[in-house]
Amino acid sequence: REKGLKDYYKKYFSIGVAVNVRALSGNEADLIVREFNSVTAENDMKMGPIHPSEGTYNWRNADSIVNFAFKHKIKVRGHNLLWHNQAPAWLFKDSVGNQVSKEVLLARLKEHITTVVKHFKGKIYAWDVVNEAIDDKPENYFRNSLWYKICGEDFIAKAFEYAHKADPSAALYYNDYNSEEEGKREKIYRLLKSLVDAKIPITGIGLQGHWKLDKPSPDLIRKAIEKYASLGLKIQITELDLTVRKPVSPQDRLAGATQMPMAVDSGLTPDLARQQEQRYKEIFEIFRAYKNVITNVTFWNISDRYSWLDSRNGGVAGGAAASDPTRRVIRKAYPLLFDEKLQRKKAYFSVVDF
Ligand code: G3I
Repeated sequence: REKGLKDYYKKYFSIGVAVNVRALSGNEADLIVREFNSVTAENDMKMGPIHPSEGTYNWRNADSIVNFAFKHKIKVRGHNLLWHNQAPAWLFKDSVGNQVSKEVLLARLKEHITTVVKHFKGKIYAWDVVNEAIDDKPENYFRNSLWYKICGEDFIAKAFEYAHKADPSAALYYNDYNSEEEGKREKIYRLLKSLVDAKIPITGIGLQGHWKLDKPSPDLIRKAIEKYASLGLKIQITELDLTVRKPVSPQDRLAGATQMPMAVDSGLTPDLARQQEQRYKEIFEIFRAYKNVITNVTFWNISDRYSWLDSRNGGVAGGAAASDPTRRVIRKAYPLLFDEKLQRKKAYFSVVDF
């Protein structure tokens, strides 16, 4: 059997990938089985998709992912139990459309978490319990979501308690992006410390890792890992990708291109590919150095064929492109270790060569 990422990293941490049901058959499925030993559902376990209306659960896609993983001896990370985004509208409203009270919302949260975590009990080794509850703006601490507006900060600790009760052996994570940036890092640290001090059952922090070539710096990555680990918490890199976009050429601009066909905008320039290779090498060196606290590294999507980065901002459906709003030119991201043909990129080899 050919070696994959998970084999190279056997002595370090598990290596995961975010998937949706389209990837469970064919070439992408083969790639997943060869390279990864952990999977996360990109969308199918989130509150909106899995609990679309009160009393209705839609397990189908999530179950397919869990069954696929079980069949191939792949572990499953659960994502996520509480988020401001992709939360179903019914959750915050009563039958006549008024905003619900804190008591009602917490009761609904408890019912949701208990049902979902029990449904997958023993099959999911780690849950992202609360996703992105800290605000990006320096002047705010918590994100001013409906969760926060209705409950204050209490929903966070409660979510961990409900999840722990439903499956005491699942590891429980707080998950966020830009968690290495100093200002946000201090706020997340403050939240995590308050949870740890209050003996709330939290295992660790998920650093999403939607990173760029130059940001965050290696120094900031190390500082964040050390700071969070100082609380006795584990760390998982939960949504890793490295955005690299080709610059817009003068011809493209002259042509006023709005949507470059895939065939034109295919592949990275050698120079950008080299920079990405270096950057991937650098960050995996850091991860390996912290193998005592890092327990999983998960990529957000399989290959450059489809990335969430391409479906934003009016990108072509299926992940072909993302638009640059200032120039109105579609520029694809090439964020992962496998190219559009699912072949290993140079960056792949820089990650396994150690
Ligand atoms: O499934 C519906 C489809 O029925 C509908 O016709 C279509 C029209 O917009 O939307 C489809 O849902 C989309 C869904 O992805 C599934 O493709 C949503 O609009 C779209 O917003 C959703 O995007 C997901 C995004 O989270 C939601 O904000 C991305 O796929 C997913 O990669 C992304 O993942 C998040 C993590 O959960 C948390 N951290 C950040 C990360 C990237 O944003």
